[in-house]
Amino acid sequence: MKVNGKDMRPIWLDADLKVVKIIDQRCLPHEFKVVDLKTVQDVIGAIKEMTVRGAPLIGVTGAYGVYLATLNSFEKTNEDQYLIKSCSRLKSARPTAVNLSWAVDRVIKAVRSVKSVSEKIETARKEAQKIEAEEVQNCEKIGKYGVELIARISRCKKGKTVNILTHCNAGWLACVEYGTATAPIYAAFEKGIDVHVWVDETRPLNQGARLTAWELNNHGVKHTVITDNAGGHLMQHNMVDLVIVGSDRATCTGDAANKIGTYLKALAAKDNGVPFYVALPSSTFDWHLKNGLRDIPIEERDPDEVRYVQGWNEGVIKSVLIPPATSPAANFAFDVTPARLITGFITERGICRATADDIIKLFPEKV
Ligand code: MRU
Repeated sequence: MKVNGKDMRPIWLDADLKVVKIIDQRCLPHEFKVVDLKTVQDVIGAIKEMTVRGAPLIGVTGAYGVYLATLNSFEKTNEDQYLIKSCSRLKSARPTAVNLSWAVDRVIKAVRSVKSVSEKIETARKEAQKIEAEEVQNCEKIGKYGVELIARISRCKKGKTVNILTHCNAGWLACVEYGTATAPIYAAFEKGIDVHVWVDETRPLNQGARLTAWELNNHGVKHTVITDNAGGHLMQHNMVDLVIVGSDRATCTGDAANKIGTYLKALAAKDNGVPFYVALPSSTFDWHLKNGLRDIPIEERDPDEVRYVQGWNEGVIKSVLIPPATSPAANFAFDVTPARLITGFITERGICRATADDIIKLFPEKV
């Protein structure tokens, strides 16, 4: 996608094939910084600190983390032990997005199929690049299928603006290109459909206000940032035609975890008859899980992310304390929306209802 007219991705491999470059998502939209990742420890730090974030991107970054581990394994006395340890540390960097362990496992499996260290390095790099390319294709297809939902609403409204609500950032910054929830929106925009996006600010880290708004702004898509609590009111007043969100982990039965607050949007959507779709690539399904509420691990982050708010002030990024200095805070980063509240999934293979039967029809090889 474009940043100031220049093609950009949130992650890329440097020309020397030794450094992974990432856009520092903690500083956007006010500062544009690129960070170098040279070791698996750098990758783990970037995922934990949310320098990179968003389920598909966490997966791709983890895949490159395995590649960097193979590069660094040259200097280690026991390369295999080093790789095994690196993978397990990578996989536990953040717990909710299943894309991370899926991608790490996939690269290490490929690495195990070859013998010499140089073959391992080459194999890891190629597999990580393959995962990256596949996620780009997946998101493009999610856009292709999802745009039909928007086009249908636009026809019903005789071309009047289609208002879409989204939560968090499930855009290209969270993936590699297009995004998941934003892919149908970008596709609609390209087709000339009149779209407007309600952007939930997404406390505590404001991925909506900072990142989704930045993306849509760069692209020229009409949008309005709203407080996290505004969605219900807007739905009661027919100001939302469609909700599209991303996901960090979905069960094979159709429950989907996403950024904290998503569940409340789904409840409001159900109460007001607003279609609620989850856009996700197959790498976000955890095919072993049946009960999302019980089985999806929910990340709890530093309470200071809730207590302090970060913003732009007099040319620098500043943090300010909101509650009384001694008040405790809790920071649950995700919640699970049960399948019964989800109108459908938008995947790279098409759109389906959030039921075990329909999901498996799209992905029969997962039985
Ligand atoms: O904590 P984050 O910013 O990594 O959470 C991201 C989300 O919740 C996204 O909605 C999700 O990863 C889907 S990204 C296509």
